[in-house]
Amino acid sequence: MGKITVSAPGKLMLLGEHAVVYHHPCLVITVDQRIQTTVEVIDRNEFQLEARDVGISGYKKPISKLGKGHIPKGAKFVEIAVANSIGHPELVSGFRNKFGMTKEMGIRIKTESEFPSQYGFGSSSAVTVCVIKALSELFNLKLSKKEIFNLAYKTVLDIQGKGSGFDIAAAVYGGTLYFLTGGKTIEFLNVSSIPLIVGYSGVKSDTAVLVNKVKKSFSNKKNRLDEIYNSIEVLVNKAKAALIKKDWEMLGDLMNQNQNYLKELGVSTPKLDNMIKAALDSGAHGAKLSGAGGGDCMVAVVSDEKRGKVIGAIQSAGGEIIDIKTGAEGVRIE
Ligand code: MEV
Repeated sequence: MGKITVSAPGKLMLLGEHAVVYHHPCLVITVDQRIQTTVEVIDRNEFQLEARDVGISGYKKPISKLGKGHIPKGAKFVEIAVANSIGHPELVSGFRNKFGMTKEMGIRIKTESEFPSQYGFGSSSAVTVCVIKALSELFNLKLSKKEIFNLAYKTVLDIQGKGSGFDIAAAVYGGTLYFLTGGKTIEFLNVSSIPLIVGYSGVKSDTAVLVNKVKKSFSNKKNRLDEIYNSIEVLVNKAKAALIKKDWEMLGDLMNQNQNYLKELGVSTPKLDNMIKAALDSGAHGAKLSGAGGGDCMVAVVSDEKRGKVIGAIQSAGGEIIDIKTGAEGVRIE
């Protein structure tokens, strides 16, 4: 029948989180830890899923029930991605033309991740992108990167209601991106690896909760919120130039300024603050939280000489160092 394995990278937000939800740009980089997804057409009218990293084993349902009824948390992104894909006009006809959509046809999917979903590396977006890319290849539809982005973004919005889509762009395009809300701009930056240290705070954060928290706490201070987002946009644009010039000191300084705004938004935590302070006190050019806040990771940009010292300081502040290289390739066939 047909079987394919694809993989997509995890990501880290460099600058611009939260503002990017409201039509401002951000900078995102991919990391060399990936999610693998194997998609197989089977001769049973079923959707089957094995995703042990997120606690899903032996999950199955009839194809006609795809996307309907109760869906366990760990299965949501994959299942809705399949439902959206085979509901997509081109994919539906792709199914029919290539294989003849018989009652006996179904899909088996297995996902495996090189990183835990707690890190906030964007495992849900990466797996969504993998599923759509795999279906596009299996049914020979040759969806473009932008079409894959659009279908994956729809899937994430169907589930989460909110989100800029930057994590999907990272999984699709790879590398380092300058990204504008909803993919209005997706600019691939010619940046080699960035000297980053990543520290995990030990707490899983929930993007939707954090985005709503900001909205609520600024409901009476809309002007200040606009000012903050506009200022973050200025920082993102300067950081884009610093990245291209490999001016790590400048990048660090802009990250520090971005972190101050994130603190004002109320999304940093004492643990993240301590890890960031430890990195700065031991000589990092700059440090900030990465992503929604409330937990997940912090990132520090550091010179080679200071690397060991900064790693030790983040660990002493209770952070777990995640060893990554930046600038990994986007979704690919394995
Ligand atoms: C979460 O990693 C980053 C946010 O900007 C949300 C989003 O862009 O979708 C808070």
